[in-house]
Amino acid sequence: MIKVAVLGYGTVGSGVVQVLQDNADVIRARVGEDIEVKYILDLRDFPGDKNEGLVVHDFNIILDDPEVNIVCETMGGVHPAYDFSMSALKAGKCVCTSNKELVENHGPELIATARANGCNYLFEAAVGGGIPIIRAMNTSLAQEKIVKIMGILNGTTNYILTKMAKDGVSYETVLKEAQELGYAERNPEADVEGHDAGRKIAILASLMTGKTVKFADISTEGITKINNRDFEYARKMGKSIKLIAVAECHDGVACIVAPFMIGADHPLNGVNGVFNAVHVTGNMLGDAMFYGQGAGKLATASAVVADVVDMARNMGRELPCVWDEEKLELADYKKLVKRFFVRATVKSRGEVLNTFGSIDEVDLFDEEFAFITSHMSEHDFDKKIANIKGVIKTIRVED
Ligand code: HSE
Repeated sequence: MIKVAVLGYGTVGSGVVQVLQDNADVIRARVGEDIEVKYILDLRDFPGDKNEGLVVHDFNIILDDPEVNIVCETMGGVHPAYDFSMSALKAGKCVCTSNKELVENHGPELIATARANGCNYLFEAAVGGGIPIIRAMNTSLAQEKIVKIMGILNGTTNYILTKMAKDGVSYETVLKEAQELGYAERNPEADVEGHDAGRKIAILASLMTGKTVKFADISTEGITKINNRDFEYARKMGKSIKLIAVAECHDGVACIVAPFMIGADHPLNGVNGVFNAVHVTGNMLGDAMFYGQGAGKLATASAVVADVVDMARNMGRELPCVWDEEKLELADYKKLVKRFFVRATVKSRGEVLNTFGSIDEVDLFDEEFAFITSHMSEHDFDKKIANIKGVIKTIRVED
């Protein structure tokens, strides 16, 4: 019998307990033994909850109990999650987490501590909610040189952008709805300014390179400036607007999080609502896409429990994950080549044609002159666009 402790009985933690209990029979069949939740750590009591008897308030009860083999950390935040995870690993207990902030800040250290103590530290749920992308990066894609990752990695912003595109509703109304549905972070800025997606692409870029990519080094641009007129242009061109996190090999690895117009034929175009997707390009494999619910109680909990199952099947064995503490200096994302969508005042037409030469014009509003550039680096685009007066908006394009 494997005994599990769940740290934090919030949205994800209560989901983890539910998945372990409701799917106990299939999990038993696949692991070969029972997995039982022995403790739930939370500051609160849960009178009337069917698991209220499992709730403890002191982490040391879990740490000192030799029966507990696996700890699921679903608390969020760096402290005390870091301290609890470290102590559990040093006591030889496996730890899995949904906590992207902790993984991005301390992933390699926690992995190394797990290895030094004969256990594992897994974090499938930290990126893309229920999508099995971390395990795929560590196993199914281990033979590939990954040349590019493009991800819709934030459910809240994808939900907001999808609703704005389909229903023409305001950003504020949809944000409130997303928070009520439990998708948004406590601080919505982390979602809407692209920080949450930035942490997730930092983790994926670290696994892509085996070194540490820091979120602080990644340029992030959020969705707050996208408005209904942008969607009208996108619709006219068959494109969608998505918050995309990119990690791309180009004189090193460059990363950026920003809204992109996504072409009609790109697989990320139709990823809607709270769904996330990770589009991976390998040098031998070509393109592959991983798609699923990027946020929400049971989807995220399912990914945590996938780690529980993996660890339970491999007690005493090291699971594959190459992520060293050595910091990777990122390449300049402005060297990445792409097209750009521009909205400007109608008066700027002559200047635009002189500066950009060949463009694809998008005719929609009389008072605006909108177009898509040819392919160029972002440095070249910045130089050219600086010559144009009356620029209203620019959005990166991925065909
Ligand atoms: N706020 C996050 C999102 C939750 O919307 O994707 C999952 O990390």
